[in-house]
Amino acid sequence: MLFDHKSFDAHETVVFADDEASGLRAIIALHSTALGPAAGGCRLWHYNSDLAALDDVLRLSRGMTYKNAMAGLPLGGGKTVIMAPEQIRDRRALFAALGRAIDRLGGSYWTAEDVGVGPADMAAVATATRFVAGLEKGRHASGDPSPVTAKGVFTCLMAGAHRIWGGRTLSGLTVAVQGLGRVGWHLCQALHAAGADLLVSDIDARRAQLAAREFNATVVAPEKILTARMDIFVPCALGGVLTRESVGALDARMICGAANNQLADEAVGAKIARLGKLYLPDYIVNAGGIINVASEILQIEDPAWIEDKVSALAVTIEEVIEEAAKRSRDTAAVADSIAQARIAGDCRLAA
Ligand code: NAI
Repeated sequence: MLFDHKSFDAHETVVFADDEASGLRAIIALHSTALGPAAGGCRLWHYNSDLAALDDVLRLSRGMTYKNAMAGLPLGGGKTVIMAPEQIRDRRALFAALGRAIDRLGGSYWTAEDVGVGPADMAAVATATRFVAGLEKGRHASGDPSPVTAKGVFTCLMAGAHRIWGGRTLSGLTVAVQGLGRVGWHLCQALHAAGADLLVSDIDARRAQLAAREFNATVVAPEKILTARMDIFVPCALGGVLTRESVGALDARMICGAANNQLADEAVGAKIARLGKLYLPDYIVNAGGIINVASEILQIEDPAWIEDKVSALAVTIEEVIEEAAKRSRDTAAVADSIAQARIAGDCRLAA
């Protein structure tokens, strides 16, 4: 069930944490600690089955290894998923139990927030372990990573847009943002300020209306956003939106967004390239959040460190685009091979 699972990729450690008293059922996956202790957030989600949760944590933890390597962080990749119980009796107790499970890993894994989990939950984890970041209090506390994530996505998007259309603004371009949550909202602010014509979509209709007013945007129904007329598609909801079918119908010339695991499978990256569209790999453009979290884990004192690392994401994106053109390969495959070289310590390829 585990070693021949389709998403198993020689993960170093997979821990199943079960705590009857609090109702915690979680899986912690450490994909790689080659570059440093594994780091990656904790997701609380209603999974249809244990296998669906396992698949998610295996894919997400591998993504974190690649993300941290491409962001130039001395951290490996890991992730936690909590299978949300029908009813959470005591949320603090649930996250304290998770903290105990993380503490048993002795510092080989650091956690932080992800979908469905907030700073108060991390504070509860911190009652049982010090291997937790994304806290609101403390000397190196980094708080909500979303604005930094949005900044990284925006910086990379501008680099990609400049390459395709020239110019330093988004004036005259239609940009469709799917998901107007913490990252999507910040991103809309930057895109609007850069002169983009915005299409916005969220399953929460009220949020979409708010965005329409705030950013002079046009609301598109969730089921219609992928087929709308647009120049740039910005996925900021959940993963898996780019499938072999959906990219065929997608009008956008470029795709750049915050959602993790946007490509349903590897073949989609190749198809996007064949269609003449530019895909900016998710784990590079959305690394702002983990850079913010890393400043807390690594106890960085230099105030310019985060800014420099986030700006460097656009440089990495440029390198990936160049390399993809040179090798006639798709950007997702090129990003993977550069990340693998960095993890293997092959500086020649990783440069
Ligand atoms: P969030 O939970 O604050 O926002 C997600 C938004 O997407 C919500 O408003 C939700 O209603 C909407 N949504 C869900 N399904 C949708 C659909 N089918 N169509 C349209 N809207 C839909 O999440 P957040 O923090 O903004 O993250 C967005 C994505 O970026 C997630 O995939 C997350 O894993 C990823 N990410 C977030 C980081 C962060 O710093 N928050 C860091 C790196 C990645």
